[in-house]
Amino acid sequence: MKGSNFASIGITFKGCGSYLPAQVLSNEKISQIVETNDEWIKTRTGISNRRIAEIDENVSDMGFKAALSAMDMANWASESVDLIILATSTPNDLFGSAPMIQAKLRAKNALAFDLTAACSGFLFALITASQYLTSGKYKRALVIGSDQLSSYVDWQDRGSCILFGDGAGALAIEASHDQSNLFGFNLRTDGERGSFLNLYNKNLNGKIIDQIKFRKGEFSNISMNGQEVYKFAVREVPIIISDLLKKTDFDSADVDWLILHQANQRILDAVGERLKINKDKILTNLNKYGNTSAATIPLVLDEFIRNQKIKKNDIILTSGFGAGLSWGAALLKWG
Ligand code: UT7
Repeated sequence: MKGSNFASIGITFKGCGSYLPAQVLSNEKISQIVETNDEWIKTRTGISNRRIAEIDENVSDMGFKAALSAMDMANWASESVDLIILATSTPNDLFGSAPMIQAKLRAKNALAFDLTAACSGFLFALITASQYLTSGKYKRALVIGSDQLSSYVDWQDRGSCILFGDGAGALAIEASHDQSNLFGFNLRTDGERGSFLNLYNKNLNGKIIDQIKFRKGEFSNISMNGQEVYKFAVREVPIIISDLLKKTDFDSADVDWLILHQANQRILDAVGERLKINKDKILTNLNKYGNTSAATIPLVLDEFIRNQKIKKNDIILTSGFGAGLSWGAALLKWG
Protein backbone atom coordinates (compact mmCIF):
# COMPACT_ATOMS: atom_id res chain seq x y z
CA MET A 1 0.00 0.00 0.00
CA LYS A 2 1.26 3.48 -0.86
CA GLY A 3 2.95 5.34 1.97
CA SER A 4 3.07 2.25 4.15
CA ASN A 5 6.83 1.57 4.04
CA PHE A 6 7.08 2.79 7.60
CA ALA A 7 10.06 1.80 9.73
CA SER A 8 10.05 2.71 13.42
CA ILE A 9 8.76 6.10 14.54
CA GLY A 10 6.45 8.14 12.35
CA ILE A 11 4.62 11.48 12.37
CA THR A 12 0.91 12.09 12.83
CA PHE A 13 -1.04 15.35 12.53
CA LYS A 14 -3.18 16.14 15.55
CA GLY A 15 -4.31 19.74 15.30
CA CYS A 16 -4.07 23.08 13.55
CA GLY A 17 -4.73 26.70 14.37
CA SER A 18 -4.37 30.17 12.94
CA TYR A 19 -4.59 33.83 13.81
CA LEU A 20 -5.20 36.84 11.61
CA PRO A 21 -5.05 40.44 12.77
CA ALA A 22 -8.27 42.43 12.45
CA GLN A 23 -7.05 45.36 10.33
CA VAL A 24 -7.94 44.83 6.65
CA LEU A 25 -5.93 46.55 3.94
CA SER A 26 -7.82 46.42 0.64
CA ASN A 27 -6.49 47.01 -2.88
CA GLU A 28 -8.55 50.17 -2.96
CA LYS A 29 -6.75 51.48 0.13
CA ILE A 30 -3.33 50.61 -1.35
CA SER A 31 -4.24 52.56 -4.48
CA GLN A 32 -4.49 55.64 -2.25
CA ILE A 33 -0.75 55.41 -1.47
CA VAL A 34 0.83 54.10 -4.71
CA GLU A 35 -0.05 54.30 -8.41
CA THR A 36 -2.03 51.06 -8.79
CA ASN A 37 -5.61 49.82 -8.89
CA ASP A 38 -7.80 46.92 -7.76
CA GLU A 39 -8.10 45.53 -11.29
CA TRP A 40 -4.29 45.38 -11.82
CA ILE A 41 -3.60 43.79 -8.45
CA LYS A 42 -6.38 41.21 -8.77
CA THR A 43 -5.45 40.22 -12.32
CA ARG A 44 -1.70 40.02 -11.71
CA THR A 45 -1.74 38.48 -8.23
CA GLY A 46 -5.23 37.25 -7.24
CA ILE A 47 -5.06 39.34 -4.05
CA SER A 48 -7.91 41.58 -2.87
CA ASN A 49 -7.14 42.13 0.82
CA ARG A 50 -4.45 41.50 3.36
CA ARG A 51 -4.36 41.77 7.16
CA ILE A 52 -2.04 44.14 9.04
CA ALA A 53 -1.00 43.54 12.65
CA GLU A 54 -2.05 46.20 15.13
CA ILE A 55 0.56 48.54 16.65
CA ASP A 56 0.62 46.48 19.85
CA GLU A 57 0.77 43.05 18.17
CA ASN A 58 3.91 41.11 17.29
CA VAL A 59 5.03 37.78 15.87
CA SER A 60 4.98 35.94 19.18
CA ASP A 61 1.49 37.29 20.05
CA MET A 62 0.14 36.02 16.73
CA GLY A 63 2.10 32.76 16.94
CA PHE A 64 0.84 32.14 20.46
CA LYS A 65 -2.81 32.45 19.41
CA ALA A 66 -2.33 30.11 16.46
CA ALA A 67 -0.43 27.58 18.60
CA LEU A 68 -3.02 27.68 21.39
CA SER A 69 -5.74 26.89 18.93
CA ALA A 70 -3.71 23.97 17.44
CA MET A 71 -3.05 22.67 20.96
CA ASP A 72 -6.78 22.86 21.76
CA MET A 73 -7.69 20.90 18.65
CA ALA A 74 -5.09 18.28 19.55
CA ASN A 75 -6.48 18.24 23.08
CA TRP A 76 -3.00 18.52 24.58
CA ALA A 77 -2.09 19.79 28.02
CA SER A 78 0.58 22.54 27.85
CA GLU A 79 3.07 20.51 29.89
CA SER A 80 2.90 17.63 27.40
CA VAL A 81 4.46 19.70 24.58
CA ASP A 82 8.14 18.79 24.05
CA LEU A 83 9.11 21.09 21.20
CA ILE A 84 8.07 24.45 19.74
CA ILE A 85 9.60 25.65 16.49
CA LEU A 86 8.67 29.11 15.30
CA ALA A 87 9.32 29.83 11.63
CA THR A 88 9.64 33.57 11.18
CA SER A 89 11.70 36.19 9.37
CA THR A 90 10.29 39.02 11.43
CA PRO A 91 10.95 38.08 15.07
CA ASN A 92 10.04 40.55 17.80
CA ASP A 93 13.28 39.49 19.50
CA LEU A 94 16.30 38.62 17.37
CA PHE A 95 17.53 36.41 20.19
CA GLY A 96 14.45 34.25 19.68
CA SER A 97 10.70 34.79 19.86
CA ALA A 98 9.70 31.13 20.29
CA PRO A 99 10.50 31.07 24.04
CA MET A 100 7.94 33.88 24.51
CA ILE A 101 5.33 31.65 22.92
CA GLN A 102 6.45 28.81 25.18
CA ALA A 103 5.99 31.07 28.24
CA LYS A 104 2.53 32.24 27.13
CA LEU A 105 1.44 28.66 26.50
CA ARG A 106 2.92 27.61 29.86
CA ALA A 107 4.61 24.76 27.97
CA LYS A 108 7.34 24.56 30.54
CA ASN A 109 8.74 21.21 29.36
CA ALA A 110 9.18 22.30 25.76
CA LEU A 111 12.34 23.25 23.92
CA ALA A 112 11.52 26.38 21.91
CA PHE A 113 13.52 28.06 19.16
CA ASP A 114 13.18 30.15 16.00
CA LEU A 115 13.96 29.04 12.48
CA THR A 116 14.35 31.43 9.54
CA ALA A 117 13.79 30.37 5.96
CA ALA A 118 11.43 33.14 4.76
CA CYS A 119 8.43 31.80 2.85
CA SER A 120 9.76 28.22 3.04
CA GLY A 121 10.10 28.59 6.81
CA PHE A 122 7.00 26.65 7.82
CA LEU A 123 7.94 23.68 5.67
CA PHE A 124 11.55 23.71 6.90
CA ALA A 125 10.28 23.93 10.51
CA LEU A 126 7.84 21.06 9.96
CA ILE A 127 10.60 18.82 8.63
CA THR A 128 13.00 19.91 11.40
CA ALA A 129 10.37 19.09 14.04
CA SER A 130 9.68 15.75 12.39
CA GLN A 131 13.39 14.85 12.70
CA TYR A 132 13.28 15.56 16.45
CA LEU A 133 10.18 13.41 16.79
CA THR A 134 11.44 10.47 14.76
CA SER A 135 14.62 10.47 16.86
CA GLY A 136 12.46 9.04 19.62
CA LYS A 137 13.49 11.71 22.14
CA TYR A 138 10.58 14.11 21.61
CA LYS A 139 6.90 13.20 21.26
CA ARG A 140 4.78 16.30 20.76
CA ALA A 141 5.68 19.40 18.75
CA LEU A 142 4.02 22.65 17.84
CA VAL A 143 5.22 23.99 14.49
CA ILE A 144 4.35 27.64 14.01
CA GLY A 145 4.67 30.03 11.08
CA SER A 146 4.21 33.65 12.09
CA ASP A 147 5.25 36.73 10.16
CA GLN A 148 4.71 40.46 10.31
CA LEU A 149 6.04 41.59 6.96
CA SER A 150 4.10 44.86 7.15
CA SER A 151 6.93 46.15 9.38
CA TYR A 152 9.44 45.74 6.53
CA VAL A 153 7.40 46.39 3.38
CA ASP A 154 8.36 49.52 1.46
CA TRP A 155 4.90 51.05 1.30
CA GLN A 156 6.05 53.27 -1.56
CA ASP A 157 7.08 50.34 -3.78
CA ARG A 158 4.06 49.29 -5.83
CA GLY A 159 5.96 46.27 -7.17
CA SER A 160 6.04 44.60 -3.75
CA CYS A 161 3.70 46.34 -1.26
CA ILE A 162 0.64 44.87 -2.96
CA LEU A 163 1.68 41.32 -2.08
CA PHE A 164 2.29 41.05 1.62
CA GLY A 165 0.25 40.72 4.81
CA ASP A 166 0.56 39.52 8.42
CA GLY A 167 -0.68 36.37 10.16
CA ALA A 168 0.18 33.12 11.89
CA GLY A 169 -0.65 29.44 11.61
CA ALA A 170 0.35 26.35 13.55
CA LEU A 171 0.28 22.56 13.49
CA ALA A 172 0.38 20.11 16.38
CA ILE A 173 2.32 16.99 15.35
CA GLU A 174 3.01 13.84 17.31
CA ALA A 175 5.40 10.89 17.09
CA SER A 176 3.73 7.54 16.54
CA HIS A 177 4.91 3.94 16.77
CA ASP A 178 1.96 2.74 14.69
CA GLN A 179 1.96 4.87 11.56
CA SER A 180 3.66 7.64 9.66
CA ASN A 181 1.52 10.19 7.90
CA LEU A 182 4.49 12.18 6.64
CA PHE A 183 5.41 10.23 3.53
CA GLY A 184 8.36 12.25 2.34
CA PHE A 185 9.94 15.64 1.73
CA ASN A 186 12.42 17.49 -0.47
CA LEU A 187 14.11 20.71 0.63
CA ARG A 188 16.47 22.96 -1.34
CA THR A 189 18.27 26.29 -1.09
CA ASP A 190 20.33 28.24 -3.61
CA GLY A 191 22.19 31.19 -2.13
CA GLU A 192 23.61 32.09 -5.53
CA ARG A 193 20.20 33.39 -6.54
CA GLY A 194 19.66 34.95 -3.11
CA SER A 195 19.74 38.55 -4.33
CA PHE A 196 16.26 38.25 -5.91
CA LEU A 197 14.51 38.72 -2.56
CA ASN A 198 16.07 40.23 0.55
CA LEU A 199 15.54 41.91 3.86
CA TYR A 200 19.07 43.14 4.45
CA ASN A 201 20.74 44.73 7.42
CA LYS A 202 21.24 48.40 6.52
CA ASN A 203 24.96 48.11 7.27
CA LEU A 204 25.12 51.54 8.86
CA ASN A 205 28.39 52.38 10.56
CA GLY A 206 28.55 53.47 14.16
CA LYS A 207 31.44 54.49 16.36
CA ILE A 208 32.05 53.39 19.94
CA ILE A 209 35.19 55.48 20.38
CA ASP A 210 37.41 57.02 17.67
CA GLN A 211 39.47 53.87 17.10
CA ILE A 212 36.62 51.35 17.27
CA LYS A 213 33.76 51.32 14.79
CA PHE A 214 30.82 48.95 14.60
CA ARG A 215 27.94 47.95 12.34
CA LYS A 216 24.56 49.10 13.58
CA GLY A 217 21.79 46.52 13.69
CA GLU A 218 18.91 47.94 11.68
CA PHE A 219 17.05 46.37 8.82
CA SER A 220 16.00 47.96 5.55
CA ASN A 221 12.82 47.23 3.61
CA ILE A 222 12.05 44.15 1.57
CA SER A 223 13.70 44.36 -1.84
CA MET A 224 12.44 42.05 -4.56
CA ASN A 225 12.98 41.27 -8.21
CA GLY A 226 9.41 40.11 -8.77
CA GLN A 227 9.89 38.72 -12.25
CA GLU A 228 12.89 36.59 -11.25
CA VAL A 229 11.12 35.23 -8.16
CA TYR A 230 8.11 34.44 -10.32
CA LYS A 231 10.22 32.56 -12.89
CA PHE A 232 12.07 30.69 -10.13
CA ALA A 233 8.84 29.52 -8.50
CA VAL A 234 7.13 28.41 -11.68
CA ARG A 235 10.23 26.50 -12.79
CA GLU A 236 11.49 24.93 -9.54
CA VAL A 237 8.30 24.07 -7.65
CA PRO A 238 6.94 21.58 -10.23
CA ILE A 239 10.40 19.94 -10.42
CA ILE A 240 10.75 19.46 -6.67
CA ILE A 241 7.17 18.20 -6.37
CA SER A 242 7.57 15.75 -9.27
CA ASP A 243 10.78 14.43 -7.68
CA LEU A 244 8.98 13.97 -4.37
CA LEU A 245 6.06 12.12 -5.96
CA LYS A 246 8.48 9.82 -7.74
CA LYS A 247 10.52 9.21 -4.60
CA THR A 248 7.43 8.36 -2.55
CA ASP A 249 5.85 6.28 -5.32
CA PHE A 250 2.82 8.56 -5.53
CA ASP A 251 1.17 9.97 -8.61
CA SER A 252 -0.39 13.44 -8.91
CA ALA A 253 -3.77 11.67 -9.29
CA ASP A 254 -3.34 10.29 -5.73
CA VAL A 255 -3.19 13.82 -4.30
CA ASP A 256 -6.42 15.14 -2.77
CA TRP A 257 -5.17 18.68 -2.10
CA LEU A 258 -2.30 20.83 -3.27
CA ILE A 259 -1.36 23.57 -0.81
CA LEU A 260 1.25 25.92 -2.24
CA HIS A 261 2.82 28.89 -0.54
CA GLN A 262 0.37 31.70 -1.25
CA ALA A 263 2.50 34.05 -3.33
CA ASN A 264 0.58 34.81 -6.50
CA GLN A 265 -2.49 33.12 -8.00
CA ARG A 266 -0.73 32.98 -11.37
CA ILE A 267 2.11 30.96 -9.77
CA LEU A 268 -0.43 28.58 -8.19
CA ASP A 269 -2.22 28.11 -11.53
CA ALA A 270 1.00 27.60 -13.50
CA VAL A 271 2.35 25.02 -11.01
CA GLY A 272 -1.00 23.19 -11.01
CA GLU A 273 -1.00 23.09 -14.82
CA ARG A 274 2.55 21.77 -15.04
CA LEU A 275 1.76 19.04 -12.53
CA LYS A 276 -1.58 18.29 -14.19
CA ILE A 277 -3.36 18.80 -10.89
CA ASN A 278 -6.94 19.96 -11.31
CA LYS A 279 -7.72 23.52 -10.18
CA ASP A 280 -10.38 22.23 -7.75
CA LYS A 281 -7.64 20.50 -5.77
CA ILE A 282 -5.53 23.64 -5.31
CA LEU A 283 -6.55 25.25 -2.04
CA THR A 284 -6.14 29.00 -1.68
CA ASN A 285 -7.05 31.94 0.53
CA LEU A 286 -4.61 34.30 -1.14
CA ASN A 287 -7.36 36.71 -2.15
CA LYS A 288 -8.18 37.41 1.52
CA TYR A 289 -4.75 37.46 3.15
CA GLY A 290 -2.04 37.94 0.49
CA ASN A 291 1.44 36.52 1.10
CA THR A 292 2.00 36.08 4.85
CA SER A 293 5.39 34.38 4.35
CA ALA A 294 5.91 31.53 6.86
CA ALA A 295 2.21 31.62 7.78
CA THR A 296 0.59 30.90 4.40
CA ILE A 297 0.68 27.09 4.42
CA PRO A 298 -0.72 26.58 7.95
CA LEU A 299 -3.28 29.35 7.32
CA VAL A 300 -4.64 27.46 4.32
CA LEU A 301 -4.50 24.12 6.16
CA ASP A 302 -6.35 25.50 9.16
CA GLU A 303 -9.08 27.17 7.10
CA PHE A 304 -9.84 24.08 5.03
CA ILE A 305 -9.59 21.62 7.91
CA ARG A 306 -12.00 23.69 9.99
CA ASN A 307 -14.49 24.08 7.14
CA GLN A 308 -14.17 20.29 6.64
CA LYS A 309 -13.05 20.42 3.04
CA ILE A 310 -9.89 18.57 4.11
CA LYS A 311 -10.90 15.35 5.84
CA LYS A 312 -9.05 12.80 7.91
CA ASN A 313 -6.82 10.59 5.72
CA ASP A 314 -6.82 13.05 2.80
CA ILE A 315 -3.49 13.19 0.95
CA ILE A 316 -1.95 16.66 0.97
CA LEU A 317 0.92 17.79 -1.18
CA THR A 318 2.45 21.05 0.01
CA SER A 319 5.23 23.28 -1.23
CA GLY A 320 6.90 26.42 0.08
CA PHE A 321 9.27 28.70 -1.83
CA GLY A 322 10.82 32.12 -1.53
CA ALA A 323 13.79 34.09 -0.30
CA GLY A 324 17.11 32.34 0.15
CA LEU A 325 16.34 31.28 -2.43
CA SER A 326 14.70 28.36 -0.70
CA TRP A 327 12.06 25.86 -1.68
CA GLY A 328 10.69 22.50 -0.72
CA ALA A 329 7.79 20.08 -0.73
CA ALA A 330 6.23 17.55 1.60
CA LEU A 331 3.65 14.82 1.11
CA LEU A 332 1.42 13.91 4.01
CA LYS A 333 -1.85 12.37 5.09
CA TRP A 334 -4.01 14.44 7.42
CA GLY A 335 -4.61 12.68 10.70
O1 UT7 B 1 7.19 34.51 -1.39
C1 UT7 B 1 7.72 34.96 -2.58
C2 UT7 B 1 7.45 36.42 -2.65
N1 UT7 B 1 7.54 37.01 -3.95
C3 UT7 B 1 6.77 36.69 -4.99
O2 UT7 B 1 5.99 35.79 -4.97
C4 UT7 B 1 6.91 37.56 -6.22
C5 UT7 B 1 6.61 36.83 -7.51
N2 UT7 B 1 6.37 37.80 -8.58
C6 UT7 B 1 5.15 38.33 -8.77
O3 UT7 B 1 4.20 37.98 -8.10
C7 UT7 B 1 5.01 39.31 -9.90
O4 UT7 B 1 6.25 39.45 -10.58
C8 UT7 B 1 4.54 40.73 -9.44
C9 UT7 B 1 3.08 40.67 -8.99
C10 UT7 B 1 5.41 41.24 -8.32
C11 UT7 B 1 4.60 41.69 -10.62
O5 UT7 B 1 3.80 41.21 -11.69
P1 UT7 B 1 4.39 41.14 -13.16
O6 UT7 B 1 3.35 40.62 -14.03
O7 UT7 B 1 5.69 40.36 -13.09
O8 UT7 B 1 4.66 42.66 -13.47
P2 UT7 B 1 6.01 43.34 -13.97
O9 UT7 B 1 6.97 43.49 -12.84
O10 UT7 B 1 6.46 42.68 -15.22
O11 UT7 B 1 5.49 44.78 -14.33
C12 UT7 B 1 4.60 44.99 -15.47
C13 UT7 B 1 4.18 46.44 -15.49
C14 UT7 B 1 5.36 47.42 -15.33
O12 UT7 B 1 5.05 48.55 -16.12
P3 UT7 B 1 5.71 48.75 -17.57
O13 UT7 B 1 7.19 48.76 -17.34
O14 UT7 B 1 5.26 47.58 -18.37
O15 UT7 B 1 5.13 50.06 -18.01
C15 UT7 B 1 5.32 47.80 -13.89
O16 UT7 B 1 5.88 49.06 -13.63
O17 UT7 B 1 3.33 46.70 -14.39
C16 UT7 B 1 3.83 47.80 -13.62
N3 UT7 B 1 3.49 47.58 -12.23
C17 UT7 B 1 2.31 47.96 -11.71
N4 UT7 B 1 1.25 48.60 -12.23
C18 UT7 B 1 0.20 48.84 -11.44
C19 UT7 B 1 4.21 46.95 -11.26
N5 UT7 B 1 3.52 46.94 -10.12
C20 UT7 B 1 2.34 47.56 -10.36
C21 UT7 B 1 1.21 47.85 -9.58
N6 UT7 B 1 0.16 48.46 -10.15
N7 UT7 B 1 1.13 47.49 -8.27
